[in-house]
Amino acid sequence: MRQAGRYMPEYRQLRKKYSFLELCHTPQIAEEVTHLPIKILGVDVAILFSDILVVPEALGMQLHFDEGKGPIIDNPVSSEKEIPNPTGCQERLSFVFEAITRLKKSLEVPLIGFAGAPFTLASYMIEGGSSKEFKKTKEWMSKSPETFKKLIEVLTSATISYLEGQQEAGIDAFQLFDSWANSLSYDQFEEFCVPSYQKIVEKSKVPTILFCKEASSFVSGLMKAKPQGISFDEKADMKSLRKKLPQTALQGNLDPEILYQPLKTIEESVKRLLDDMRGDPGFIVNLGHGIKPNMSVEAVKTFVESVKGYS
Ligand code: CP3
Repeated sequence: MRQAGRYMPEYRQLRKKYSFLELCHTPQIAEEVTHLPIKILGVDVAILFSDILVVPEALGMQLHFDEGKGPIIDNPVSSEKEIPNPTGCQERLSFVFEAITRLKKSLEVPLIGFAGAPFTLASYMIEGGSSKEFKKTKEWMSKSPETFKKLIEVLTSATISYLEGQQEAGIDAFQLFDSWANSLSYDQFEEFCVPSYQKIVEKSKVPTILFCKEASSFVSGLMKAKPQGISFDEKADMKSLRKKLPQTALQGNLDPEILYQPLKTIEESVKRLLDDMRGDPGFIVNLGHGIKPNMSVEAVKTFVESVKGYS
C-alpha cells in the first residue's frame, strides 16, 4: 500500500537522484527503500520495493513513468499477433530476485513479495497506461474472448515464473494485486480472472493474499482459488466478512482518507476497527488502499502506533 513512497522525505531525496524505474532496477537501492518503512514507521512486515509493471517490461513493453501521469507503455498490445512470448522473462527479472536475496540477509522482519495479476497487467499492456474505462481492454475481451484468454495465459505463466524466482530468493509471503478487476462484471471476473488466480495460488509455496479493489463483491470467486488471505478495501465490512470466511486471513481495511484527518480521529478509527476484529488471530491490519504522496508521515506513524498500542 505504498508504505515506501513519495510521502516520505527520505524517498523523495532518493528520487532526486534516480528515476522510479532506476530504483526498481537497482537491487541495493530497492533494498534500501524497502527498509525505510521498517525504520521510520516500525511496521511488522516489509513489502518488497518494486512495481507490478516490471513484468510487462520484462515481456518487451517499453515502460516509463512520467511525472504526474503515472505509467506509460509506448508499444501497447492490440491484437493476438502482438501477444509477447514469455520465454526468458524470468532471467530479465533477476534484479528483483537479487533485491530479495539481499533483503533476506539484512531484514529482521518477514518479507512480502508481490506481482500484478494477469488481468490488471493486461489492462496496462492494452491501454498503454492507466485507464478509467478500460475501453480497449473490454472491446478485445468481448470481440475475441479466446485470444484475450491467450494474453491472460501468457501473463499467468510469466507470473508463475516470477513467483518461483521470488520464492527461491526467499520471500515469506506473496500478494497478488488485481487492482482493476473491479471494472469487470461478476461473470467476467469468473471467466477472465479466477482461473489465473487458481493457477498462481496452486503454484505458491508461501502464504498468498489476493487483492482487488471492492473485493467484497468478488468474494465467492476469490475463494475458488483457495488463497490463504484476502485483502479488502475500506468499503468492506470486516466483521461480517469474518463470519462468512472463518478460515481465511483477512487483510485491511482502514480508509486511507482517514490519514488526512486529525491524529485523534486516526487513533479512534483504528480503535474501532480493532474492536470489531478483537481476538481474531487471522486479521492483518492494513490500509484499504495506497498512501497518497501528500499524506503526512506523522499520520501514517499514528496509524501504526495506534495499532501497536492497542490493548
Ligand atoms: O511499498 C509498497 O507498497 C511496495 C511497492 C509497490 C509500488 N507499487 C511502488 C510504487 C507496490 C506493491 C505497487 C503495486 C502497484 N503498482 C499496483 C497494485 C496496487 C494498487 O495500487 O492498486 C499498481 C496498479 C501499480 C501501477 C503503478 N505504479 C501506478 C498506477 C503508479 C503511479 C501511481 C502514482 O501515484 O503516481 C505506480 C508508481 C509507483 N509504484 C510509485 C511507487 C512508490 C510512485 C513512483 C514515484 O513517482 O516515485
